[in-house]
Amino acid sequence: MKLVFLGPPGAGKGTQAAVVKEKYSLEHISTGDMLRDHVKRQTALGKEAKAFMDEGKLVPDEVIINMIRSAISGDACSEGFILDGFPRTVPQAEALDVLLEEMGTPLDRVILFEVDDETVVSRLTSRRVCSTCGAIYNIHFDPPPEDGKCRVCGNATIIQRKDDSEEVIRRRLEVYHEQTAPLIEYYASKNLLSRLDGTGPKDAVLALLGRR
Ligand code: AP5
Repeated sequence: MKLVFLGPPGAGKGTQAAVVKEKYSLEHISTGDMLRDHVKRQTALGKEAKAFMDEGKLVPDEVIINMIRSAISGDACSEGFILDGFPRTVPQAEALDVLLEEMGTPLDRVILFEVDDETVVSRLTSRRVCSTCGAIYNIHFDPPPEDGKCRVCGNATIIQRKDDSEEVIRRRLEVYHEQTAPLIEYYASKNLLSRLDGTGPKDAVLALLGRR
């Protein structure tokens, strides 16, 4: 199964992908996580991407497309994958079409997580993440353990992402509406789009996802 999770920042794409990947043995490919890993390791790509990410802007298409090409053509993706945070622009979607055509494996579904802007701001200002393994928490909806150690990897590395300040979140939302929202029509016109109300509690969203 080859899925794209589309939607604004904070819509719950990463939260649901973490569950769905286990259930269906899919590879979870998050371009945000890949970029943060490059930034942490201070690679050339990470150094180039950091300023864009800190400001809530998109990293240039060619950087992202090269990164995705090597990720989805690897053996780990042979059973299928969830693309989370990619594509984010029409040129990225067109590059994905070409890549999948070369691989002879079309997309099965694009799931659009629909969440309003104020819910996004509320969720992201209260999000915490593990900087070691990427596990996602929320101080209101899914609080991290009281001892400060990550439930998944056990490290005391739970932090607030630098781009989760209200100012940067609002810029990311503007970027989403301008550059990523056109993909809704792009995939609807290919009959690949399923809309999903992402505003309910986590389990309710998962139940809706199971019906798509
Ligand atoms: P990225 O890491 O992809 O960020 P994003 O798209 O902004 O998405 P998020 O990770 O913020 O949100 P999410 O939908 O996964 O929500 P989550 O599940 O965490 O990208 C970061 C940056 O990298 C970009 O700004 C850009 O610079 C760059 N980048 C990445 N990909 C790129 C690309 N393709 N092209 C160019 N640049 C790229 O949930 C959010 C919070 O809500 C959590 O606290 C969670 O616990 C909580 N929550 C989740 N679901 C629910 C629920 N149902 N009810 C209540 N709370 C919930």
